[in-house]
Amino acid sequence: MPDIEGIKVLNLSSKKRAKELSEKYNVPLINSESAETYISIDDQPILHYGKNKLENSFIEGKFSTRISQYQGESLLKKAIGWQSTAQKHILDTTGGLGHDAFILALLGQKITVLEKNTGLCVLIEEALNNLPNLPYFNDARNNISVVNNDSRAFLSSAENFDVIYVDPMFNSKKKLKRTKQMEFLDNYLEEHDDPSVEFYESSFKRLVIKKELRAAPSIKDCSAISFKGSSVRYDVYLKGEK
Ligand SMILES: C[S@@+](CC[C@H](N)C(=O)[O-])C[C@H]1O[C@@H](n2cnc3c(N)ncnc32)[C@H](O)[C@@H]1O
Repeated sequence: MPDIEGIKVLNLSSKKRAKELSEKYNVPLINSESAETYISIDDQPILHYGKNKLENSFIEGKFSTRISQYQGESLLKKAIGWQSTAQKHILDTTGGLGHDAFILALLGQKITVLEKNTGLCVLIEEALNNLPNLPYFNDARNNISVVNNDSRAFLSSAENFDVIYVDPMFNSKKKLKRTKQMEFLDNYLEEHDDPSVEFYESSFKRLVIKKELRAAPSIKDCSAISFKGSSVRYDVYLKGEK
């Protein structure tokens, strides 16, 4: 899997932030013109992969519409067993751009986001860092922690989380209604890893697997409950949930 060679600072005001990220993720600050895969830190961070670029903002672009309607995420709420009175601790095992994680955080849940690609971790961190200073955004930001690791490192602690959430990359050959961000991820990540089966075999309480609506389930288990939307489906497996 390609990953970033470093973090490039484009203006002086971003230098402190770039240094913090460089230390947290153990990637060098670079100014080389020859880097192929890197993050540039400016007002808006960008992940560069050859000629392709990926931005990740929680307040601009297509995802901001989902944010403004987060209360209406009834499918996701049902999938995680959302309750207004109790905060769940969710392990997001396939962080990506942190979109699902941020919606869950806005819904008041506590999320540990695991993403094995360092470049994507930095994009999530920066999307959180660039949120306006508003109480509900601050609460959501405080509910998320980002960890750069293969989520399999957490298999033995699955039972410590109320929900294990898996959103593996869609492998469909069909011409899906893909966003530019999804196209980028498809090329950039090259391999389509999916830790669903390993987590199914762990001592989880509640396992939620996001799938394309008509895709075959990752796991054959007739006790699974599916919540279906117009394009996606959540398959829910229960083991140790009281
Ligand atoms: C489809 S994307 C997830 C999108 C995410 N749900 C969102 O809303 O932005 C899948 C991501 O999972 C990550 N991933 C896949 N297997 C993983 C693993 N075993 N550990 C950590 N991250 C993994 C990939 O690097 C990729 O970024």
